[in-house]
Amino acid sequence: MRPVTGMAALVMLPEVSMAFDVERIREDFPVLRQQVHGRPLVYLDNAATSQKPKLVVETMEQYYLTENSNVHRGIHLLSEQATEAFEGARGKVARFLNARDAREIIFVRGATEGINLVAHSFARPLLSVGDEILISEMEHHSNIVPWQMVCEETGAVLRVAPINDDGELRLDEYARLLGPRTRLVSMTHVSNALGTINPVQQVIKLAHERGVPVLIDGAQAAPHLPVDVRALDCDFYVCSGHKLFGPTGIGIVFGKAHHLEAMPPYQGGGDMILSVTFEKTIYNEAPIKFEAGTPHIAGAIGLGSAIDYVGSIGLDRIAAYEGELLAYATDAISAIPGLRIIGTAKEKASILSFVLDDVHAHDIGTILDQEGIAIRTGHHCAQPVLKRFGVPATARASLAFYNTRDEIDALVKAIHKVTEMFG
Ligand code: ALA
Repeated sequence: MRPVTGMAALVMLPEVSMAFDVERIREDFPVLRQQVHGRPLVYLDNAATSQKPKLVVETMEQYYLTENSNVHRGIHLLSEQATEAFEGARGKVARFLNARDAREIIFVRGATEGINLVAHSFARPLLSVGDEILISEMEHHSNIVPWQMVCEETGAVLRVAPINDDGELRLDEYARLLGPRTRLVSMTHVSNALGTINPVQQVIKLAHERGVPVLIDGAQAAPHLPVDVRALDCDFYVCSGHKLFGPTGIGIVFGKAHHLEAMPPYQGGGDMILSVTFEKTIYNEAPIKFEAGTPHIAGAIGLGSAIDYVGSIGLDRIAAYEGELLAYATDAISAIPGLRIIGTAKEKASILSFVLDDVHAHDIGTILDQEGIAIRTGHHCAQPVLKRFGVPATARASLAFYNTRDEIDALVKAIHKVTEMFG
């Protein structure tokens, strides 16, 4: 065991051997040890939220038990310690994303709030009637609705780049839609409904060739793939802590420093100011000017320890392990008569969406739950992309690095049971 940098030494990171020892990793997730409806829990709803390693829970507990205090405000020791831990977490996020500077990291509630922040503070001031925002057909509602809202306010138009029958972005169409009125591209890195990994490097390059800034929604990517915002050269990148094995209620916006400096605050309140009079308020600098009010201090610190944890395993190794697991699961469920996978892109992260003959997705989910298997069913907050595939809902199994082949076998067995019940 070794101490976590920046936090009190009582919280220790597990040693992870070079071999991917999934049974060893599972010991760090007590929640996985339980029975559900008398069966061992098989948690395959990681795209909705991931489970938390003990390290994250213990770090947050220790913060509340020994350091709890407000940040940036006190001259007393506890406040200084809390500030150090909070700002230390910002530094961890910056290193995790390979941002140039921790000042390029804003803490928000989640990826959704991150996109809303960029829509409000970056896009809205740029937009006038007839300007365009370009997204893709596979976006989550949180990367559709905020743009519709700013379009409604400004008279701008939302353009949508189509996908093919495998759920891959049509890059030719995307390039064609990048026009003289495009003011921003906002696209997901990994689709939550299909698992498609988008060619974001090319998406960004094509946009930049036309002088268009790009936001990447990394909510489903950051838990599965190494992300390097400098190599990508994206203007903004957003993630959610709870999908990244951290707590709920905390998320990240990375923004290039020159954008953040130029952007107005998102919300007004305490801490985001340098001085206030009734006549005039002078705002603090980024990122603090975007963090009005007391932030989710424990959440940020917990997220920092989730990043430590993931880093101790290594995202390259996580991606390789999950790639094998996804291939195993894809082969296994494809062989089930009547089952159709929705989302068959060549580049996929560990998400398996499927429909089964005429069986309602909720029936699949309910029967699987009785077998101890947790999946998500429905439209996955991505109604337009399901419409594109002509289905109102899918059953979705989403994997994480603590899932095993045995759990995939249990999933397959349970789907066979559904088929028998409805056959
Ligand atoms: N966006 C999350 C999901 O895909 C909640 O389930």
